[in-house]
Amino acid sequence: MNQDELKALVGRAALDVVVPGTVVGVGTGSTVNCFIDALATIKGSIVGAVSSSVASTQRLQAHGIRVLDANEVARIPVYIDGADEIDHQGCMVKGGGAALTREKIVADLAERFVCIADHSKRVAVMGRFPLPVEVIPMAAAQVARRFAAAYGGVATVRAGSNGPVTTDNGNLLLDVRGLQITDPLAMETEINQWPGVVTVGIFARHRARLCLLGTPAGVQRLSFD
Ligand code: 5RP
Repeated sequence: MNQDELKALVGRAALDVVVPGTVVGVGTGSTVNCFIDALATIKGSIVGAVSSSVASTQRLQAHGIRVLDANEVARIPVYIDGADEIDHQGCMVKGGGAALTREKIVADLAERFVCIADHSKRVAVMGRFPLPVEVIPMAAAQVARRFAAAYGGVATVRAGSNGPVTTDNGNLLLDVRGLQITDPLAMETEINQWPGVVTVGIFARHRARLCLLGTPAGVQRLSFD
């Protein structure tokens, strides 16, 4: 199976963790797109979804799935999202799709984060994938200097075809290379304190409790409780 087939496999497998009669938290990315397409087949059994990006909202609505504002929902049983890297504790690097802030907000509403990923995302130590950090534009250079001083990381502003990438919240993204994320919780806590940082793409406080990992042998269930 190629990577796209593995994503489709775990997207379908995630239907098993959807709780009927509730609101589902929905992440962002190509793996989640597979989940959204699968979710459409059981849309009558859920109340709706809380979405983590404009892109996911549009896909959900195109399938006729009701999207609720996060402010309308106090608690959801499960949040389903992909990852750029996931370690042996369920900690993740996220934000490759630029949606990390809203992803963390929806994850915070959820009792359980279920990660869906192909096996290429599983790592011993995170940091090979450039760490995404959403920043207030005027703080970008100072946050980049802090990464260099504190961790020896090299931060660059993410660029698209028409200039810097802007998040759904109107901010910039830094991608930080050269990191070894050996203590994800400590690093997330530290970087969150830096003025101008909106969200760091380390998900340690909101780590996955379950990962449905797509492998050539099928879906592997990794539990981190
Ligand atoms: C978006 C994310 C995605 O979950 C992450 O980038 C993985 O994406 P994909 O499923 O396309 O590999 O964090 O901000």
